[in-house]
Amino acid sequence: MLKFKLSKVTSTQDFAEAISSMLYEDFLVTAEEQTKARGRYKRAWYSPKGGLWFTYVKKNFNAEEIPVATLKVSLAVREALSSFFDAKIRWPNDVVVNDKKVSGILIEAIYVGDVTDLFIGVGINTNVKEFPPDIKATSILLETGKEVNNDELLNDVISKIDYYLSLKEDFEEIVGKINNYLSIKDKKVVITRRDETKVECTALFVDKFGRLVTDCGIFEVEDVLRVESK
Ligand code: BTN
Repeated sequence: MLKFKLSKVTSTQDFAEAISSMLYEDFLVTAEEQTKARGRYKRAWYSPKGGLWFTYVKKNFNAEEIPVATLKVSLAVREALSSFFDAKIRWPNDVVVNDKKVSGILIEAIYVGDVTDLFIGVGINTNVKEFPPDIKATSILLETGKEVNNDELLNDVISKIDYYLSLKEDFEEIVGKINNYLSIKDKKVVITRRDETKVECTALFVDKFGRLVTDCGIFEVEDVLRVESK
């Protein structure tokens, strides 16, 4: 596969989106360091040297499959990280260990006519040694005491993403798999809505539409800024 290995970039997502219209094959962009990386809702994503930061671009992606693809990527990243510890999924698509975020996933699509390019942005805190105090996160190094080989992990994650994307299972079946690994199941959580209001609930499960069912209502992915364990 075509690979762009950058040492420093604003965001692998921005770089991939800028060059994609010139290319006709799937490609991968990695960077040792990002200076303006972003997460969902344009939140800043801390990306110092040591972590694994990449954007995997699937050309000509079937736009109808984007919702299920988002879930499949979370399953793939979780499975790759389960070789280090008991990795779980915090709805909608963070990968966590002991309730601390170790990976974030940002899926974006660009539609040109009837052709869609899918940009799968993944950040994994592999060898990050410390985080600013306002960021509640951890790294594989901090959890296990061992340095990770980023190239090996990248190969493993990409092959797992390809495997999950190739599954013919429908949305409901994939949601079933997400529920098996849900970190917040039956836990008290604080949900921050898009308007920044907060509500405290017990998370129950993800329903067949991908919404989070709690004891105080059902939440759509688009309406939630973040979910934190109490
Ligand atoms: C989130 O948790 O909100 C998603 C974080 C996604 C971060 C990755 S790192 C590689 C790629 N480049 C970016 O600018 N963002 C994604």
